[in-house]
Amino acid sequence: MAELIVALDVANRQEAVERVKAIGDQVGFYKIGLELFTAEGPDVVRAVKDLGKKIFLDLKFHDIPRTVERAVKSGGALGVDLMTIHSVGASAMIRAAADAAESFGENGPKILAVTVLTSLDKTDLEDIGVAGRTPAEQVAAMARFATSSGAHGLVCSPMEVGALSSTLPAGTLFITPGVRPAGSAVGDQKRIATPADAVRDGATHLVVGRPILAAPDPAAAARAILAEMEGAKA
Ligand code: C5P
Repeated sequence: MAELIVALDVANRQEAVERVKAIGDQVGFYKIGLELFTAEGPDVVRAVKDLGKKIFLDLKFHDIPRTVERAVKSGGALGVDLMTIHSVGASAMIRAAADAAESFGENGPKILAVTVLTSLDKTDLEDIGVAGRTPAEQVAAMARFATSSGAHGLVCSPMEVGALSSTLPAGTLFITPGVRPAGSAVGDQKRIATPADAVRDGATHLVVGRPILAAPDPAAAARAILAEMEGAKA
């Protein structure tokens, strides 16, 4: 069964804790990203963990292998469950991240690779030296490369997850943002899918932010998404 992760895209720890409490027991997984972590540091991770929640620490590491290895060890020591790296860090960096995560045993963090940022188009790829491939082709190539270098899963758009989940090894994790229940505001997301579509296409974790956080009743919004995910798995 796919899991729902709520993106805690809020400014500070107090707001984060209030949101987690308001959403309640039904959601057990929260994403802490650059905005909140840069403001509050590891204390906000501890505060959300103290409420009994799992943590996806989305800091997208990209550095020399030793630095990434040590950053992943810091995340493992904090007890986070998922962490992100950029697959353009190349094989030794991805392997170093995976080895550091696996040194915590079965309950250690899982490493998710970002392939191509969804904000990049073909011209951006050419600008950074990736010529001759469309973003979709580059995503597929980087996904194969990252998982064969040790990444436990991928962050991918709901448009990509079907193709990737049918070609990559069983057990690979597929984390998809850009999920919008039918009828909800799209915001700045462009390539979206409903929760049911994402689950049917093989997503193992759905990341949802504003459709829950900005809803008049966040707990009800989360409940509706969970019901849709449950209905899709049959
Ligand atoms: O509010 P919304 O549901 O769009 O939030 C989605 C979350 O997933 C945000 O934290 C956003 O930064 C993240 N994300 C994304 N698209 C990507 C990678 C991450 O929306 N390609």
